[in-house]
Amino acid sequence: MTRIFSGVKPTGHLTLGNYLGAMRRWAEEDQHRADALFCVVDLHALTVEHDPARVRRLSRQAATLLLAAGLDPALCTVFVQSQVDEHLRLSYLMECTASDGEMRRMIQYKEKAAQEAARGGTVRLSLLTYPALMAADILAYGAHEVPVGEDQAQHLELTRDLAVRFNQRYGTTFVVPRATHPAVAARVMDLQDPTSKMGKSEQVRTSGIVYLLDEPEVVRKKVMRAVTDTGSEVAYDREKRPGVANLLDVLAACAGGDPERLAEEYDSYGALKGDVAAAVVETLRPLRKRHAELAADPSYVDEVLRRGAERARGLARPRVDAAFRALGLLG
Ligand code: TYM
Repeated sequence: MTRIFSGVKPTGHLTLGNYLGAMRRWAEEDQHRADALFCVVDLHALTVEHDPARVRRLSRQAATLLLAAGLDPALCTVFVQSQVDEHLRLSYLMECTASDGEMRRMIQYKEKAAQEAARGGTVRLSLLTYPALMAADILAYGAHEVPVGEDQAQHLELTRDLAVRFNQRYGTTFVVPRATHPAVAARVMDLQDPTSKMGKSEQVRTSGIVYLLDEPEVVRKKVMRAVTDTGSEVAYDREKRPGVANLLDVLAACAGGDPERLAEEYDSYGALKGDVAAAVVETLRPLRKRHAELAADPSYVDEVLRRGAERARGLARPRVDAAFRALGLLG
């Protein structure tokens, strides 16, 4: 049976980008057609400046949102990365498989390191080795498919390279996974800066980010104030009109349809924004409601996570043990 693995990092409140680019497919498709594991990757949240209490809170909130988005513990495995030691065990072996140069070439590393340098800050070593841990997350489970947004494509390529290299040098141990991306909204852009990805946390300004738990009125305001492009004709052109193209992508993802066709139905930005706002609010409504119910019963979420970690441990352990032996460790 196909095995699927994916994860979300609790570095900030989850966004519409996380939902449309990843979580929605996990719930609507992936968990129904494969043995799927979904993980709150809390160890990854320590790669940047962090507050322990906030990471703890955001991890629980992320897990609750995964369930609220429709992940069903009867169909899939939901767990928290730090509760399964195999990720860290295998991560070190991945560091021993990867080269320094290939880590430094990662776009996300280069961008974040440059941002930190501009602020006069330092970069944690774990930010550089991040892709080794991410590769370990995926390879430990023998995942065939990894449903992610487009921004993770480079990390997935590296994961594939590491799996192939390890298999060639030490004997076939890992499945070589492939990334899958949604047909629309694989990269939702910031509403105030449509040339940058809608990210969770790093930005100081949050008016361009729709959070999954934003009140409907807040969502509406953010969408209505979205930066559009010069001109007034509604056309789908990601290069020349990134603001309008982003709104059309979001509309297509939330209400259905094809972004280019949808463009033909509008002759003003105002009307388009109104429809986008309504579609986003409707898409998030059931998720917000379910989140409120689940948040009222944290012991249920804890129990789901405990069981999830138990199952994940059992799945990962034999393959990680095999990797230890293959590399020459007595294990
Ligand atoms: P993270 O936490 O940044 O994002 C979680 C998922 O949401 C997708 N995503 C987006 N998709 C479309 N538009 C956006 N603006 C947008 N923002 C985020 C991401 O592509 C991702 O699928 N490194 C990963 C976490 C991770 C992981 C893994 C993922 C760690 N180990 C193993 C898959 C498999 C990350 O930072 O995702």
